Amino acid sequence: MTQAVFAGTAADPSQFPREGLPEIAFAGRSNVGKSSLINALLNRRGLARTSKAPGKTRAIQFFRVDSELLFADLPGYGFARVARSIREDWGPLIEGYLTDRGPLKLLILLLDIRRDVTPDDQALLEWLALMKNPTLVVLTKVDTLSRTQQLARERLIRSAIGWADPLPMVSARTGAGKNALWGEIRRRAL
Ligand code: GTP
Ligand code: MG
Repeated sequence: MTQAVFAGTAADPSQFPREGLPEIAFAGRSNVGKSSLINALLNRRGLARTSKAPGKTRAIQFFRVDSELLFADLPGYGFARVARSIREDWGPLIEGYLTDRGPLKLLILLLDIRRDVTPDDQALLEWLALMKNPTLVVLTKVDTLSRTQQLARERLIRSAIGWADPLPMVSARTGAGKNALWGEIRRRAL
């Protein structure tokens, strides 16, 4: 059993938690399912706010897991309809977080298994590689496809991003892939 609590929200680096626990961040375009996956991993429906309307998570939300780990729910990108002022806030906040976050052990970049990789996804991946941030690309919403379709999409997306290793596949809805992802998180963070 994991115990998870809300550990604050940050619109600015001065508001990042300071306790120095190893941290796992979840990134990806708006609506990809970052907050839903956090809730699924923590078995806590509604801990991280989710929404059918994309672009709702504007600041970084932090969650403390068993007093030994922090999860960071990063605001989504690539949603054209959010106000320009919000889009302009995204860059500096995320850039500040990714360049300067000592406790960050792993960034999990979520991609919707049904969607093609966007220029925003590619730009973030290039930036992460440049900054040598440990990154794991995970395909989500796999419950929407048959097993055969999942495997075909995995191959396609993996080749689009030039990744060597198979991409882990998860569903926040069914919990598929959750235990394997936990294994990977623990291996990288603890
Ligand atoms: P922002 O905070 O706006 O960046 O979005 P987000 O990435 O946090 O997405 P969120 O978790 O709010 O989910 C967006 C929508 O996708 C919601 O309607 C969820 O119910 C749905 N969703 C999330 N995960 C899954 C999944 O594994 N399968 C399916 N079918 N739907 C999902
Ligand atoms: Mg969210």
